[in-house]
Amino acid sequence: MAKPLNIAVAGLGTVGTGVVRLLAENAKVLERRCGRKLDVVAVSARDKTKDRGIDLAGVRWFDDPVNMAKAPGIDVVVELIGGSGGVARSVVETAIKAGRAVVTANKALLAHHGTELAMAAERKGVPLAFEAAVAGGIPIIKALREGLAGNRVRRVYGILNGTCNYILTEMRRTGRDFEEVLEEAQDKGYAEADPSFDVDGIDAAHKLAVLSAVAFGARVNFKAVHVEGIRHVTAMDIAFADELGFRIKLLGLAARTDAGIEQRVHPCLVRLGTPIAHVEGVFNAVVAEGDFVGQAVFQGRGAGQGPTASAVASDLVDIARGVRVPTFSVPAKALDRARPVPMTRHTGAYYIRLMVTDRPGVIADVTATFRDQNISLESMLQRARDPKEAVPVVLVTHETRESSMRRALAKIAALDTVQEPPRVIRIEEP
Ligand SMILES: NC(=O)c1ccc[n+]([C@@H]2O[C@H](COP(=O)([O-])OP(=O)(O)OC[C@H]3O[C@@H](n4cnc5c(N)ncnc54)[C@H](OP(=O)(O)O)[C@@H]3O)[C@@H](O)[C@H]2O)c1
Repeated sequence: MAKPLNIAVAGLGTVGTGVVRLLAENAKVLERRCGRKLDVVAVSARDKTKDRGIDLAGVRWFDDPVNMAKAPGIDVVVELIGGSGGVARSVVETAIKAGRAVVTANKALLAHHGTELAMAAERKGVPLAFEAAVAGGIPIIKALREGLAGNRVRRVYGILNGTCNYILTEMRRTGRDFEEVLEEAQDKGYAEADPSFDVDGIDAAHKLAVLSAVAFGARVNFKAVHVEGIRHVTAMDIAFADELGFRIKLLGLAARTDAGIEQRVHPCLVRLGTPIAHVEGVFNAVVAEGDFVGQAVFQGRGAGQGPTASAVASDLVDIARGVRVPTFSVPAKALDRARPVPMTRHTGAYYIRLMVTDRPGVIADVTATFRDQNISLESMLQRARDPKEAVPVVLVTHETRESSMRRALAKIAALDTVQEPPRVIRIEEP
């Protein structure tokens, strides 16, 4: 039997304790699969006295995870502290420098420093693995990098943030507005006390930047991601979308075109009947489109102790077996510096809701503005009629350029019959 793989775990929170538990509970099956034991030999967290409900007898404790990362007798450092810089980054950099394999679940770190870390790891000849960083328990990194390696991937997109999907699902199910559902999600532990990383789309953008690097063999370019969150989605828009045959989902989308790589995170209307429309609650889903495979859909739990530990364990199994693959699908030196495609060049259909004064001529003004920008309308909905109050008017456009849409909306917003800023949600067709 080969010598055990000696593992050091930095961070014993939700994911860290899950990893230690999984490695203990599934020790026998993992040993059979790897032909060697996977032993946790060292751990580090802030509070040594905290009862974490895991057996750490015989495991070396480090107050400083950076010291642990370079301590002798360690093969792999698992970074589960979190954060785009600070101690997490020092742990990973130190481990690589010391010639240790690294496993991390830290999408923020990879989104900001992924390319340079991949280069450092490959220079040292050590693996840098991160299955848990995107879509939790769904093995999407492996699927893209290995399972779909024969394809040119044209587009990859999905529901990458379970908190947002839970909130949008509950808003639709109960007809309640964002703030109320967010509060409930916080009470249930589905949303953080400070929810901005999730609801403002940043977490999904971190994951998308990593996903698109893997899908396209390109440098991680988080700054190029266009990001909008879900705070402006209302129960009224969800109900109108339903009536039109759509669901509203926060999607992360990356596409490779002749112009470069487009990366965007924003709420989308997706047609009922498409796989992504029916992914509800805290679940995540990713759709990859390859030239030979066609469309492949992956769904599962995107966060939580068990699913995330499962993903970390798969990386550890690869390392124990000696499997080596380039970090972002191609050798780091060969990563593409693809041009980012700005959002103004995006083309697609749009859902627009206006709150207008109910008087003759209003719709004519609005449609004239769209006509002036060469935007054609597919449908229009107007339900309530009340001469005293603002009434909603919903318009669905055919495919158009984002820049034209922005010009039209600026003019429409300035009409004195339009009482609130227009609400706009892009429509995403499969
Ligand atoms: N939670 C999920 O479902 C999930 C899913 C996918 C990816 N991730 C990623 O996994 C990583 C960990 O997330 P988590 O939810 O497990 O976080 P967490 O519960 O907040 O745990 C963080 C751990 O890091 C330790 N820590 C913080 N600062 C430290 C320092 N300076 N030195 C040593 N230890 C330190 C904490 O120690 P104490 O316990 O002593 O305070 C804690 O054990 C993050 O990158 C996150 O984005 C999480």
